[in-house]
Amino acid sequence: MRLRQSVHFFLLGMFVGLSLSGLILLSYTSSWFSGTDIVSMTPWLAPVVWEGTFDSILIDSIFKQQNITIATTVFALGKYTRFLKDFLESAEEHYFVGFRVHYYLFTDQPEAVPEVKMGENHHLTVRRVPSLDRWQDISMGRMEIIEKLIKNELANEADYIFCLDVDAKFYGRWGAESLDRLVGVIHPWFFDYPRDQFSYERRPESQAFIPAGEGDYYYTAAAFGGSLADVHHLTKTCWEQLNIDIANSIEAIWHEESHLNKYFLYTKPSKLLSPEYLWRDISISADQVKIIRFSHVAKNYAEVRPNF
Ligand code: GAL
Ligand code: MN
Repeated sequence: MRLRQSVHFFLLGMFVGLSLSGLILLSYTSSWFSGTDIVSMTPWLAPVVWEGTFDSILIDSIFKQQNITIATTVFALGKYTRFLKDFLESAEEHYFVGFRVHYYLFTDQPEAVPEVKMGENHHLTVRRVPSLDRWQDISMGRMEIIEKLIKNELANEADYIFCLDVDAKFYGRWGAESLDRLVGVIHPWFFDYPRDQFSYERRPESQAFIPAGEGDYYYTAAAFGGSLADVHHLTKTCWEQLNIDIANSIEAIWHEESHLNKYFLYTKPSKLLSPEYLWRDISISADQVKIIRFSHVAKNYAEVRPNF
């Protein structure tokens, strides 16, 4: 009798002990799978590029065979020329190393462009553009300049184009994994927010209007790209929509970024880049972001912008 009882106790103890350790193990390991989840595919089956989702050596070898050139636009007007040195030097360390890159730099002060040593097959062309009084106009006007550049000059010069903010710096690889027909970058503020909190334009009077309940992601205008044809259509459309807004005396809340978001809602990007491809130096880290590739530098807005 006694022996049977203690065997029962022993078995019960084993059961409770094992269940408890199972629970502890589960609660520990479940944090590996939830909470820090990344979405690596959109509902329309476009990949979302995160560290760990691609093999950089394989990707490079595939795109190397295609002998491609990546045009890259950068705008540095007024005091924004101060960002050029870090932007270009860090790009030369991390951006499409080993591929043909042609930067088209638009500035109102060509004399302020620093001397930066370009890597093999990397070239820089500087273009003078008129100064403007409002940063919003500089930002929106990029759509027109990029549209014209692609239409008038790039046809036989490049295969892909990226349009990047200059007040940013590279910290890690940005390479051929980012190439596709139409490429949007998820804004670092909103990647884990519900869509009703995205800062879309909400006034129906603007061409950039996106009604509540619609929208997939909130994309940044600080980096976007794709094939020449697709980015030409994007910039042309956004510039047309911006001008309809001007004629109706309305300016979308985040300027060309609002129009870009509207465009991507109806013309879905074929590839999305995670916020690794545009972080912000001032942001706290996030579990999902294992590597920061490109990041907005901290800046004193009042000091660098021509207006407020
Ligand atoms: C800010 C960013 C702006 C705009 C805005 C959208 O963080 O500085 O350029 O993208 O988010 O809400
Ligand atoms: Mn910027």
